[in-house]
Amino acid sequence: MRRAYIAGNWKMNCTIAEAVSLAEQLVARLPGDANADVAVIPPFLAIAAVRKALAGSPIAIGAQDVYFEKNGAFTGEISTAMLKDAGLSFALVGHSERRHVIGETDAIVRRKLDALLADELDVILCIGEKLEEREAGQTEAVLERQITAGIMGLTAAQLTRVTIAYEPVWAIGTGKTATTEQAQSAHRFTRNLVAGMFSREAAEQLRIQYGGSVKADNAKDLLAQPDVDGALVGGAALKADSFLGIIAGA
Ligand code: 13P
Repeated sequence: MRRAYIAGNWKMNCTIAEAVSLAEQLVARLPGDANADVAVIPPFLAIAAVRKALAGSPIAIGAQDVYFEKNGAFTGEISTAMLKDAGLSFALVGHSERRHVIGETDAIVRRKLDALLADELDVILCIGEKLEEREAGQTEAVLERQITAGIMGLTAAQLTRVTIAYEPVWAIGTGKTATTEQAQSAHRFTRNLVAGMFSREAAEQLRIQYGGSVKADNAKDLLAQPDVDGALVGGAALKADSFLGIIAGA
């Protein structure tokens, strides 16, 4: 049985004071018997303060991005060693906003994933089709391309450090959620693909989060789907009430 995994991606939001206040509310109100692993993903500059606020709580903390080089003349970038130094346990790679706003390719996403795994950090690999791709019937082809580029050739041990987040681009920040059937179908497709690339056992252990306008009032139905193992939450993760409501749906 896969334990649910709910992560809040705060994106480019929150001052340090707002981030600390949100973290403190989560620590104070997260039920001891929560049925999920919970993580927050603050902006880089708030990480040190949020980490302090989360000390002693079961809430994990991750980075929204990382660079694949170890150190050197890469102005503005952050290395895996820096993430570890700051006490982080994982990072997102391939978020749709990085792919489609910043222009990251599958190859760049893969280099980032490899760098994280080489430094024994966990990864949430984000995948998802754009609206025009879904409308053209290309959803599965896009997912297959992104998943193959993202994880083909990892060892089974490396794969245990990877979570996949299926985030249809058209559902992110739009208030349009995938239906439970659309989410389940994409997740099932993903799991079967991973089974073919690795093994059925490895695929059954893989956690696949859904992301895209997850709210307290739709989380329960999405999380009830057999292949939906958690949520990657944007907007609704910025308020303790709504994020805790999503966790309660697990
Ligand atoms: P929203 O929940 O705001 O749609 O964002 C989803 C997301 O991109 C999480 O990474």
